[in-house]
Amino acid sequence: VNIESGTVTWSSPSNIALVKYWGKRKHQIPENPSISFTLSNCKTITKLGFTKRELSTGLEMIDDFSFEVFLDGKQNDAFKPKIQTFFERVEAYLPFLKAFHFKIETENTFPHSSGIASSASGMSALALCLMDVEKALMEADGAFSMTEKSFSEVFFNQKASFLARLGSGSACRSLEGPLVVWGEHEAVEGSSDLFGVKYPYKVHDNFKNYQDTILLVDKGEKQVSSTVGHNLMHGHPFAQERFKQAANNISEIKTILETGDLDTFVKLVESEALTLHAMMMTSMPYFILMKPNTLEIINKIWAYRNETGSKVCFTLDAGANVHVLYPENETETVLKFIKNELVAYCQNGHYICDVAGLGAENI
Ligand code: PMV
Repeated sequence: VNIESGTVTWSSPSNIALVKYWGKRKHQIPENPSISFTLSNCKTITKLGFTKRELSTGLEMIDDFSFEVFLDGKQNDAFKPKIQTFFERVEAYLPFLKAFHFKIETENTFPHSSGIASSASGMSALALCLMDVEKALMEADGAFSMTEKSFSEVFFNQKASFLARLGSGSACRSLEGPLVVWGEHEAVEGSSDLFGVKYPYKVHDNFKNYQDTILLVDKGEKQVSSTVGHNLMHGHPFAQERFKQAANNISEIKTILETGDLDTFVKLVESEALTLHAMMMTSMPYFILMKPNTLEIINKIWAYRNETGSKVCFTLDAGANVHVLYPENETETVLKFIKNELVAYCQNGHYICDVAGLGAENI
């Protein structure tokens, strides 16, 4: 390779699934298709420095990875095993990995101990940085007369999403926006189990700049890691029905996104969130990942909707925090409702205002 060293930087957001991914096969292949809103404000910014490693004799083999990790400017070894595993999984697709020492400097715009998973934003940002390194190496080598073709934006994004998936499944949905589908489905052209694709159809204006206010009910560590959670779907008594339901919901949400039918959207999204939690309650071992305040918030949202006719709804990840979703034209009223009635249930009154966005950026 012709490059001795360099630096690349990407920012990549988190995402929130509307139809949930829960259950996977080997090599991070999802059991069912999923669709998410890409977020804007909750993101990871990763700077990746790379330096060619020196071989003393030039003959020995390098058979390990060399990298260091800094979180918010401080060396952080806690992430090293995750990144080691990620490097092992992607090495077959990025053959230069062992030839360089990497300095990974990363920061999140949201607090670490917020219960917001940083794996989607973090893994997608790192995957994009690595793709940028690959691109720089190939261009410098000049060995690729196909360079321009190989590094079309589509190829770059697809491969980056493919790599991100190997870091954390849902990370493959963070690169573009505002809506991304992951998992092969006949109703979504170009969809794949291997990477996320930007939702390819026209979306009704009702969904423009859709708002997501994240209520931080429990900022602690996740009670169940998503790896453990996905594995609980193996041999789960309701798994096959759930996978079918998710596929049907992808077809249904396609119609909803086209027509702008917010009432049906609310039903589908809330049902998906509760089904995700129902799967965890009915697995062996079983878990309840909601907290009493999660339920208080859900009941308040339902009461508010009944009283006002608002189209606000909730969704949940595999934890106790609540994502409050609502159309842009309700921003003022729903925020007032959140401040008056829901913030009391948040840990230290903390919440984060976010909005559907366009995905990762090279900076
Ligand atoms: O990407 P993972 O393995 O952390 O799984 C995430 C799963 C959910 O957040 C619960 C649902 C989803 O589709 O994002």
